[in-house]
Amino acid sequence: MDYLEITGGKKLSGSISIGGAKNAALPVIAAAILSDQPTEIENLPNVVDIRTLLRLLDILGAKVEHEGNSVRIDAGSIRSTRAVYEIVSQMRASILVLGPLLTRFGECEVSLPGGCAIGQRPIDLHLKALEAMGAKIEIKGGYVHAVAPEGGLQGAKVIFDKISVGATENTLMAAAMAHGVTEIINAAREPEIVQLCEMLQAGGVTIEGIGTGRLSVHGSGGAPLHYNKPISIIPDRIEEGTYLCAGAITYSTVTLERINPEHLQSTIDKLETMGCHCDVQGDRVTLFPPNGRLKEVHIVTAEYPGFPTDMQAQFMAVATIASNESLIEERLFENRFMHVSELNRLGADIWLKGNVAAVRPVDQLYGADVMATDLRASSALVLAALAAEGTTRVRRIYHLDRGYEDLQGKLAALGADIQRKKSQA
Ligand code: EPU
Repeated sequence: MDYLEITGGKKLSGSISIGGAKNAALPVIAAAILSDQPTEIENLPNVVDIRTLLRLLDILGAKVEHEGNSVRIDAGSIRSTRAVYEIVSQMRASILVLGPLLTRFGECEVSLPGGCAIGQRPIDLHLKALEAMGAKIEIKGGYVHAVAPEGGLQGAKVIFDKISVGATENTLMAAAMAHGVTEIINAAREPEIVQLCEMLQAGGVTIEGIGTGRLSVHGSGGAPLHYNKPISIIPDRIEEGTYLCAGAITYSTVTLERINPEHLQSTIDKLETMGCHCDVQGDRVTLFPPNGRLKEVHIVTAEYPGFPTDMQAQFMAVATIASNESLIEERLFENRFMHVSELNRLGADIWLKGNVAAVRPVDQLYGADVMATDLRASSALVLAALAAEGTTRVRRIYHLDRGYEDLQGKLAALGADIQRKKSQA
């Protein structure tokens, strides 16, 4: 198994380029199922989760030509509508094929994703929305069996009692080929949802309320969509935030290129609260560290445009060396604090009570062996290691490979002392 060996204390400098967003690319790939003609996608991040979903489409029978950061998916050749456990268990986002398979083919079977390190993550909202559109759903043998009514899914009013990114995406895709209008109330408003809406519109579906919590989707009535132009994936706001935190925790000036500053606002606000300055020029941002010590920060995670849960762990790493106690409250996932005990192994002083972490300041972190537990927790450990005195080995970095394209190469380009090694065990 690979691990990262990082010797901390180096100042970073220079600029790096941000890639496409994993969480935008996944629904875009799933939405290719709504077409019976080729879909071209560009600026795809080269990460494991993307390859996993492409593999699933390949198993379903789609023709997938993937090279570097582009893919051409021809879902015209899909022959199977069974998303198998072997793939879904590797990546929860595979559930995103449920809506598109059901609406295009009238029935499908998708393995239940099962548990996850950051929380229970049920899919009840996805299923309720499809049922509202007339689907009959049964859970048997660990699979969701979904059957559309005769003639296809019917537009419906779907009211979510909780905001869910994935459930909004599945409902949007199902509604895109349904008959009539589907209203989605309390929809998620993340930039990744906006990208999916724009793709469906480019495919011929009218959607009102894009970027708001109330979406109206005028379904195509069973006709497959046709995406005539390549879809270019939006920049990854979590990758951007992670590298800005790398600048902050090492008191370095770093520049990121090919960003979308609008999507980064809550992250920039918190970094500025901590005493950093972010200079945005077009699609570039430069982070300048504070003159004195980093200040404390108070964070409550929330749905977009609130502070993203996917940045919580990274800010916790930065807060460990601030001048005063920071409070971080996780509101989206019930168990997204697995990084706390690992950060404490590096000398941090973090106390947990329920879903609130009190991060008490320490003067210095010290290198140690630590274990990655999920994608964002892993990046928090890497950030802490960049600031720690001595050498840190971050193990189980397959979590990192799921969502960060060449994290080690990008940090090394900024001057970090970071190497990928193979463990003998
Ligand atoms: N929820 C339910 N029922 C459902 C669906 C969700 O109770 O049917 C709950 C979840 O358990 C959670 C909350 O609703 O407590 C929000 O979950 P959501 O459905 O919004 O999350 P997701 O779609 O599973 C996506 C991202 C996550 C990100 C969350 C929140 C993708 C592929 N994943 O997950 O990204 O944390 O939204 O913003 O888009 C990551 O990239 O590391 C990551 C975990």
